[in-house]
Amino acid sequence: MKIIKILSFIISFSVFAEIPHIRVLFHEDPSHEATIAFTQKGSKDEKGEVFVSEKPGTCSFELNSLKVTNINRLYHGEKNNWLHAVNLTGLKPDTTYYFCIKNDGQTSVEYNFVTTPSDPNAQVFFLFGGDSRSERENRIRINKSIRELFEKNPKIYALVHGGDMIWDGKDFEEFSEWMDDHMLTSTSNHRLLPLIVTQGNHESDEKLFSDIFVLEGNLSDAYYVTKIGKTAIFNLNSNISAGGDQLAWFEAKLKEITPNTKWLFANYHRPAYPAVKTPGSAKKFWVPVFEKYQFDLIFESDGHVLKKTVPIFKDELNMDKGIIYVGEGGLGVKLRTPDTDRWYLQAPGYAESLHHYFLIEVNENQVKVEVLKEGNSVFDTFFLKPRVRPL
Ligand SMILES: [Fe+2]
Repeated sequence: MKIIKILSFIISFSVFAEIPHIRVLFHEDPSHEATIAFTQKGSKDEKGEVFVSEKPGTCSFELNSLKVTNINRLYHGEKNNWLHAVNLTGLKPDTTYYFCIKNDGQTSVEYNFVTTPSDPNAQVFFLFGGDSRSERENRIRINKSIRELFEKNPKIYALVHGGDMIWDGKDFEEFSEWMDDHMLTSTSNHRLLPLIVTQGNHESDEKLFSDIFVLEGNLSDAYYVTKIGKTAIFNLNSNISAGGDQLAWFEAKLKEITPNTKWLFANYHRPAYPAVKTPGSAKKFWVPVFEKYQFDLIFESDGHVLKKTVPIFKDELNMDKGIIYVGEGGLGVKLRTPDTDRWYLQAPGYAESLHHYFLIEVNENQVKVEVLKEGNSVFDTFFLKPRVRPL
């Protein structure tokens, strides 16, 4: 009897040994597309099998749910860590997908994620935060805090990350720890929190960054727009030129999508209206575009403080046409002291030395923004109404 128990333990351990770094990435169309990625450690490459279905039980390996990984290569600069990923297309909106991964003799537990709604009037929640580098204990605590929130609110679809995940962007081991820690945001029933990311200045190896977040092909410069119903989140890259090709793309994309978009957000790392440092080139190149198209809210990171600006238009407070910039990085990084004398941080704006993240609730006729401290107590709540913008 004892031998049978030991054998069954060995079998179950070998079958369900964990596959590292399982993550879901959302890019341009998370109502219909998602990317599942994971790591294989070792000297050999073996394509992974991902069994995906709208019904649970994918670990029983029904062949009609099989997707073979279409991205299989060493992470940039690595000799023993393989990236495997599968791009899923043709998914149904607002649908739970279950999946199980089989790779290199190991089988994962069954995970799940939910695609975003395509109904333009659907209620959608997402989280925004940045700067989770360097202070791993803080990051772990905050990820657990995010998990508590995610457990309570199943309408949270993704975490929008503003960059500086790690200190040394050339070091795979730092990313490895970061991805391990991101798993702490998953719920007890193995629902994963999908990621929508932009690149920070500490993600200094853009090829490794692209591998971690599977930014391929037309996404390889790490700027793209995530469309959810009538909501658009422009993920801009403050690590490359803010003008030139990126600005041309930004303006062309806005012209294309604005007629069918109600809510416009931007997410990038280096602030235009910082609470700590000097402004990045976002101020010269992107702020005029935000103002022309009357963006609803801007997400900034990098400063390691909590901030909300007054509504800003043409470098002045403007309660009618002004845009609020929030941020700027508090997912566990060591905090700094903000310069609270800056004109755009006066009431109703603020700046505090505080870990935090934002819960964005998009409804048909308003956006609710909750600023949450670690432990999910509410620091501030404010609302946005739909804006009049040029077509
Ligand atoms: Fe930064």
